[in-house]
Amino acid sequence: MSMPTDTQRMEKIVSLCKRRGFIFQSSEIYGGLNGAWDYGPLGVELKRNLKNYWWRVMVHERDDVVGMDGSILTPPTVLEASGHVEGFSDPMVDCLTTGKRFRADQIEPQSGWVASFFGAVDSASWQKLLKEQGAPERSTVWSQIDLAPVLRRLLSNLNSGSREGVGGFVKLQESDREQAEALKKAIGCSLFMTSSLDPFSAMDIGSDRIGPKPLLSSKRFNPAIATALEYYRKRGIREPIVFIDNFQFVEDTKGFNPEGGSLLTEPRAFNLMFKTYVGATEDESSLTYLRPETAQAIFVQFKNILEVSRKKLPFGIAQIGKAFRNEINPRNFTFRSREFEQMELEYFCRPEQGMELLEYWKEERLKFYEDIGIPRSKLHVLTVPDEERAFYSKGTYDIEYDFPFGCQELEGVAYRTDYDLSQHQKASGKALEYFDEETKQKFIPHVVEPSAGVDRTVLALICEAYAEDQAPDEKGKMETRIVLRFHPRMAPIKCAVFPLLKNKEPLVAKAKEIVDLLRPHMYVFYDESGAIGRRYRRQDEIGTPFGVTVDFETLGEKDPALRDTVTVRDRDSMRQERVAIQDLPVILRERIR
Ligand code: GAP
Repeated sequence: MSMPTDTQRMEKIVSLCKRRGFIFQSSEIYGGLNGAWDYGPLGVELKRNLKNYWWRVMVHERDDVVGMDGSILTPPTVLEASGHVEGFSDPMVDCLTTGKRFRADQIEPQSGWVASFFGAVDSASWQKLLKEQGAPERSTVWSQIDLAPVLRRLLSNLNSGSREGVGGFVKLQESDREQAEALKKAIGCSLFMTSSLDPFSAMDIGSDRIGPKPLLSSKRFNPAIATALEYYRKRGIREPIVFIDNFQFVEDTKGFNPEGGSLLTEPRAFNLMFKTYVGATEDESSLTYLRPETAQAIFVQFKNILEVSRKKLPFGIAQIGKAFRNEINPRNFTFRSREFEQMELEYFCRPEQGMELLEYWKEERLKFYEDIGIPRSKLHVLTVPDEERAFYSKGTYDIEYDFPFGCQELEGVAYRTDYDLSQHQKASGKALEYFDEETKQKFIPHVVEPSAGVDRTVLALICEAYAEDQAPDEKGKMETRIVLRFHPRMAPIKCAVFPLLKNKEPLVAKAKEIVDLLRPHMYVFYDESGAIGRRYRRQDEIGTPFGVTVDFETLGEKDPALRDTVTVRDRDSMRQERVAIQDLPVILRERIR
């Protein structure tokens, strides 16, 4: 079962990430670039540790996988063959009032009262007509025999309201269809400076009203009317008077903006790929894409890599690199970004091995997450149902993690059959077959693809590591401690080295010697400023698993037997052990591997 969402926890995590230099908003000083993030000094270490460990497990520790690093710029030919130009799109809807774009499939169905509007006219013209109604003999408009009854019918409507500087509403009587016709006629005779017969509707969002009547009797305009005023104002009508046709209770609709109630457009396919132009001209001939996944470069280089690596099936090609998608709604911090990194393996095999390897890779990948500190109990495997799977895939699993904002995908493990290589063979005209020496057969290999997101995994690592507990302060009083309990192999800084006092030269010199001793083996941080308890706390908050302290025992001042020993403090238990300085590299290396 997945965990409930926890907004407060997520806010604390985002704040810590900025405060301590894990993740910043991209171009923040210019107001930020939506959907893009910059990793600070600690974030970049965490990210590297993750990528290095993935590479170690997926490439270096195996005989059957080699790596590559492909270009980000990708010609249309590649992405036409792969199906991305035609089909890499999300259904998108736009809010007709704010212009905000949503993914149609991510809108939660809503139920509520919906007001439908005929159109709007400007308030100044409306007021003028009302005034002239009092002295029709002096008005050219009111003296027109055919127009006067029409206007009287319209203006006599008592079901209306207005506010100066804003506009107002008129509820046309449903039983009297001639009112609507009267409105059309009046607009047709150009009686208004500005007008619109553009139909619109809006939902009375957030209201617990149970019927249409209170919708109008409210002292202030209800949200649906306020939205309609905004809608017509944006179409050039100053202080609009909006005409309400009817109210209806609508159930489970996805047709309205969940944030304001405005009508949304019909869904349209929106291609997610970023385009750019290579060279001096900007036309179709120079069009190029920023790759939407790293996988295609692997398929396109399959033949070259097969030849140079002399691998036999089954074997894989791995790649880590940037991918770009013009996501409609980047959200949940770095979870859905427009620029992100993927860690992908394309594992080529014989057709009959595909289903078995799909299971194998799912298990391998689950083990990977456990090995970096994400417990199995927080991971969920979703079998993607037939109707949601890519048509060429014979089986796909999503590996999901319980983020504070809900259970969401970390990685997809997909059996993609021979679709990609077949497509590229067809489109390029180059043979991408494998020749089996034993059976003397040629065929296009099938492929199983574990595809993970670097940024999502970094976020999962931070979410999993974040903890608050109680720890004694300098005076032994318990206080709340923020600690990132990273697995030591993922922690950005592996070990902090502290002289007990910064004004005791022998302590400082020894601490610096230890830094030099450890540096070739791991990322070490030296800190001499502030009370030792504060220094520990600063390291706890960024997840440094070990703290080495040089004290007077190290100098052999109290007990010569303790000369050249230091304390090693464990971040999680806060316990300290005394070890010989010369043993530190071996002891710590073993723990951070
Ligand atoms: N080659 C297959 C492929 O790209 P995908 O499910 O679209 O499949 C794989 O992406 C992984 O890439 C996802 O599981 C996720 O971890 C990561 N990913 C995809 N879109 C992302 C985005 N907009 N922001 C961050 N990570 C993303």
